[in-house]
Amino acid sequence: MIIVCPHCRKKHDIDEKRIPANVTMARCKGCGNRFPLQEAIEKPASPAPSAGGGQERRARIIGVTLSKGGVGKTTTAVNLATGLALAGFEVLLIDTDTQGQASFCLGVHPKAGLTELVTEELSAAEAVVKARERLDLLAGGKSLAGLKRIIDRKDFGGELTLAESIRPLEGRYDYIIVDTSPGWDPLTINVLFMVREVLVPVSLEVMSVQGLVEFLKSLASIQKYRKELELKYILPTFRDRRVKNADVILEKLHEVYGDMVCEAIRYNVRLSEAPALGQTIYEFAPGSNGAQDYRELVRKVADNPKLFR
Ligand SMILES: Nc1ncnc2c1ncn2[C@@H]1O[C@H](COP(=O)(O)OP(=O)(O)OP(=O)(O)O)[C@@H](O)[C@H]1O
Ligand SMILES: [Mg+2]
Repeated sequence: MIIVCPHCRKKHDIDEKRIPANVTMARCKGCGNRFPLQEAIEKPASPAPSAGGGQERRARIIGVTLSKGGVGKTTTAVNLATGLALAGFEVLLIDTDTQGQASFCLGVHPKAGLTELVTEELSAAEAVVKARERLDLLAGGKSLAGLKRIIDRKDFGGELTLAESIRPLEGRYDYIIVDTSPGWDPLTINVLFMVREVLVPVSLEVMSVQGLVEFLKSLASIQKYRKELELKYILPTFRDRRVKNADVILEKLHEVYGDMVCEAIRYNVRLSEAPALGQTIYEFAPGSNGAQDYRELVRKVADNPKLFR
């Protein structure tokens, strides 16, 4: 759980099992202030009803997608999802890529995942695995190739296959973050019929911007049928101040897409080293530029500038 110091607003991520039952006061490690524990427990930003009873959450479903490969989709999906979970939200990360890299990045090796949920071989409770505190994962991987064939074979409604399968899960989470594969195939189209918001990572190079323009045309063709699908965030990635051209591209993105453009993620070697250890950037290098930049993205998506401060 997250405890927020009422004096300096510093957040402390505490394992509640380690707090003895008779403890009522806490001391902030940041400023030394003592305060009543119960009053400082952070409540989730959106209503936090139980899945079983009464009111339900309605997850914000965000697809991290661009047809071009290697622009930081998986890195962003994983570190956005884990960042939101660290901030106190209930999060589900869905990997729709046959490469199955989201699990790898989190250091978990589920035997089943999205395919088994869609084919109804497993129930949602069995297909979803816990990857971190407040973070669940529906894993991708090679088996998704079979899913593409199932979608292809449907006479009609194939594009709604994923949306229908995850509907029962929506009420359990504040956020569902979806990582996608590069390219444009039946699974990508399915993702765009499942998510309501789109976050597009664009590496700061000419080829990626070209990819963005092409992708937005394809997105528009889906938006004709799905008015609620919204291009919400454009996330510049691999920012390197030594590359002059990158700043020109960034300026152009701001000019064309305005407020949709998020603070750029800087090139940071720590981000590429963390997956080998199955760690998120907050675990591997919490003080790095990469961690700082992804915390900023979490603040933007959650629309809460106070998170992690
Ligand atoms: N800001 C960054 N700085 C340095 N390295 C990064 C950064 N973001 C991602 N990387 C590294 O770049 C590579 C590509 O990133 P990633 O896998 O996230 O891209 P992707 O868009 O998901 O690729 P694909 O299209 O193949 O799924 C990975 O090795 C990753 O660790
Ligand atoms: Mg990827």
